[in-house]
Amino acid sequence: MGAPFPLSRPRRNRINPVIREMLRETDVRPCNLVLPLFLVPGNGVSEPVKSMEGVFRWSCDMVQRPVEEALESGVRSFLLFGIPSYKDDTGSSADDPSEPVQRALEDMRSRYPEAYLVSDVCLCEYTSHGHCGVIRDGVIHNDGTLERLASVALSHARAGAHAVAPSDMMDGRIIAVRKALESHGFPDVAIWSYAAKFASAFYGPFREAAQSAPSFGDRKSHQLPHFNRLEALRDALMDEDEGADLLIVKPAGTSLDVIRDLKDRTMLPIGGYVVSGEHCMLKDAIGAGHMDKSAYLEYHQCVRRAGCSVIITYGATELAREISVQGG
Ligand code: PBG
Repeated sequence: MGAPFPLSRPRRNRINPVIREMLRETDVRPCNLVLPLFLVPGNGVSEPVKSMEGVFRWSCDMVQRPVEEALESGVRSFLLFGIPSYKDDTGSSADDPSEPVQRALEDMRSRYPEAYLVSDVCLCEYTSHGHCGVIRDGVIHNDGTLERLASVALSHARAGAHAVAPSDMMDGRIIAVRKALESHGFPDVAIWSYAAKFASAFYGPFREAAQSAPSFGDRKSHQLPHFNRLEALRDALMDEDEGADLLIVKPAGTSLDVIRDLKDRTMLPIGGYVVSGEHCMLKDAIGAGHMDKSAYLEYHQCVRRAGCSVIITYGATELAREISVQGG
C-alpha cells in the first residue's frame, strides 16, 4: 500500500480545506434521511417522549407540523409507528384501518404527494403481552405470526404506504409479506426488511415511546445475538432472496462491521437505523457538554461511510437543516 515514509506523506492530501473537500469520500444528504414518527389516537396530542430529546408522540391531526418541517428541510421520507387505542392477544389493532398508522398514511399520502411513506410492521406495539408475534403454548409461534404480519402489511398498503418495514424477525416473513402484496394488487409496494436486527438494550427508550416492552421474557428467540456477525449476514441475505427491496441493519452504530460486510455481498441498498438508545447517548452527552454538537452529524456520516444508502434517524430534520448550512 504505497511507499513508506518519507516518500509517502499522507498529510499532503489533507494540507488545506480545498484538497480535503476535493478528496472527501462520504457525505450525508437530506434525501438519504428517514424520519420516524410515533402516532397516537385522539386529537390535539403532541406529547414529548421524556427520554428522547426532540421526539414527540403525535395524533394524526397534529403530525403535519413535524412532517412539514421535515419536508421543508429536504427530508422526504417517513417511517410510521403506531400506539393503538386497544391491545389484545393477537394484535388486532395492527390491521385495523381506523387506527393511527392507517389514518396517518391515508392523510399523508393525499396531502403530501412528494413524500415517501414507510410503515413499521410488527405486533409488539399492538399485543397485550408486548411480544412481536402470537403466543401459542407460551412461545412465539413463527408461522402463525406470519399470517398476522401479512395482514398488517396489506392494511398499510391499502392505506397508502409506499413501503412496509417488517421489524419482527420471524423466519419467512419477507416472502409471506411479498406474496400477500402481490396477490392483493400491490406489486409496487416495496419491502424494507429489518434484515439484521440485533436483540439490543439500545431499544430501551423506543419501548417507552411506543409502549411496547414485553410483559414477560425478552426478544432473544427472534432478534439476533450481538456477538454474531455471520448469523446476521445469513439472516439478511435470506431476506434478499425472499424479495426484500432494502435491507435495514440496527442498531447502526454497533453494527458497522455488519453493514460493511453486507454491502460487499448484496446488490440491494442498505439502511442503517440510528436507534433510540444511540440518539439518547449522543444527545445526553452533547447536552451535558461532554462532546461538541458536531458529534451527532459525525456519527451519521460514519454510518454512511460504512455503506448505508439510507439512514433512519430521530434527528433527520435537524441534520438536514445543519447540512444545508454547512454541507453534509
Ligand atoms: C419493533 C421495533 C423496535 C424498534 C423499531 N421497531 C423495538 C423493538 O424491537 O423492541 C426500535 C427502534 C429504536 O430503538 O429506535 N416494532
